[in-house]
Amino acid sequence: MLRDKLLSKEARLGVIGLGYVGLPLAMEFERAGFTVTGIDTDAAKVEALKEGRSYIQDVPSEWVSGAVRSGTFLPTTDFSVLKEIDSVDICVPTPLRKTKDPDISFVRAAVVEIERQLHKDMLVILDSTTYPGTTDEVILSRLERTGLKAGRDFYLAFSPERVDPGNPDWNTKNIPKVVGGVTPACTEHAVILYEQTLGPVVPVSSTKVAETVKLLENTFRSVNIGLVNEMALMCDRMGIDVWEVIDAAATKPFGFMPFYPGPGLGGHCIPIDPFYLSWKAKETGFEARFIELAGQINSSMPYHVVSKVVDCLNDQSKPVRGSRILILGLAYKEGIDDVRESPAIDVLKLLLERGAEAAYSDPFVSRLSEAGLHMESTELTPDELGRTDCVVITTAHPSVDYRMVVDAGVPIVDTRNALKGMNGDNIRKL
Ligand SMILES: NC(=O)c1ccc[n+]([C@@H]2O[C@H](COP(=O)([O-])OP(=O)(O)OC[C@H]3O[C@@H](n4cnc5c(N)ncnc54)[C@H](O)[C@@H]3O)[C@@H](O)[C@H]2O)c1
Repeated sequence: MLRDKLLSKEARLGVIGLGYVGLPLAMEFERAGFTVTGIDTDAAKVEALKEGRSYIQDVPSEWVSGAVRSGTFLPTTDFSVLKEIDSVDICVPTPLRKTKDPDISFVRAAVVEIERQLHKDMLVILDSTTYPGTTDEVILSRLERTGLKAGRDFYLAFSPERVDPGNPDWNTKNIPKVVGGVTPACTEHAVILYEQTLGPVVPVSSTKVAETVKLLENTFRSVNIGLVNEMALMCDRMGIDVWEVIDAAATKPFGFMPFYPGPGLGGHCIPIDPFYLSWKAKETGFEARFIELAGQINSSMPYHVVSKVVDCLNDQSKPVRGSRILILGLAYKEGIDDVRESPAIDVLKLLLERGAEAAYSDPFVSRLSEAGLHMESTELTPDELGRTDCVVITTAHPSVDYRMVVDAGVPIVDTRNALKGMNGDNIRKL
């Protein structure tokens, strides 16, 4: 019985997709005492893991190498191992197409492989963020084509991953895990798995509820960031320091939660997930207006940053074309190396399109090969700053020496309040 195998930790676990979400999850399963097989289509990642090298900042290489050596973590590109697996978590990407429609082709591809090896008593859990109804409409119908029935012969659930890469306090292990199964027996088995391995487990009544929980969380962030970005645009016109406003408002002990403006949204979640929800809502004729509006405001922010750069250069009687502009921070947030959807890349592109001699410096991102751009990080030195006409702070990495940047006297556009407490005529805030 699967339940007994889970409780005794004899169940063989699998994770499909070993990225920012899947690798930490696989390692937590391993730490809890299970043997875990990790499957990824990227042979280079699997090779790195087999050699004990982690490419995810939150997972130390020693952890991977120890687990590989002891045979409790088995990375592979071979899906046929699924026939031996008792429980599998799907952690593949769920991006948007250019048209902002969900692209669930990676989920479909993983499910085709599971369908081939589906067997009695197997537990299948989707962790990738997706629109309400995916588990039922895309996975359940496909897996039941095998003749096996969910809740009786195998178990199927959705459990959103809520990890925040680089967060020192909250991680895969201690963030509560929401779980919704196709049937009560499906929920029950997924709950047993996570109770054996992760932090508190929060069962909900259905897969659709679990899918929507994740979308509410990320829509909440997107809309609140949109609101505060709009505040920043308003305050800018009125000559009010929006950062000071937010800090003072945040002293209210109840009913206010601070969000901060910036150059736009980044990462694989906040800029994308709300559109999974609005896309699905459209099927019922519902227009999700907050989501669309927040999306418009947030995606306009790189243009606002560029207009600030233009103002800075204008004060020096310089055009954008030919000016040397240094983007400080390419990752979408501080302390990490993830550049997916990073608004810093949008700012960089907009400046290059206008003929600027734009470069970037980021201690976490040594090379950029994305969005048609191929560049290397520039070392942040007094000499480099001496050659630069304008610096744009797009990510506030704590390890960067901002004092040196201010002291160099170069005009700065600070989109992150990284220079809080530092004064200088050369500083322009967002
Ligand atoms: N990154 C985050 O902070 C975060 C947080 C919470 C939820 N999520 C969600 O988790 C999911 C995964 O995101 P991620 O950031 O880990 O993505 P990722 O790109 O870092 O990792 C996904 C991995 O899946 C692999 N892959 C793609 N198709 C595959 C297939 N058919 N079979 C096996 N492997 C395959 C890729 O090679 C890659 O290694 C997404 O739905 C995302 O929205 C991400």
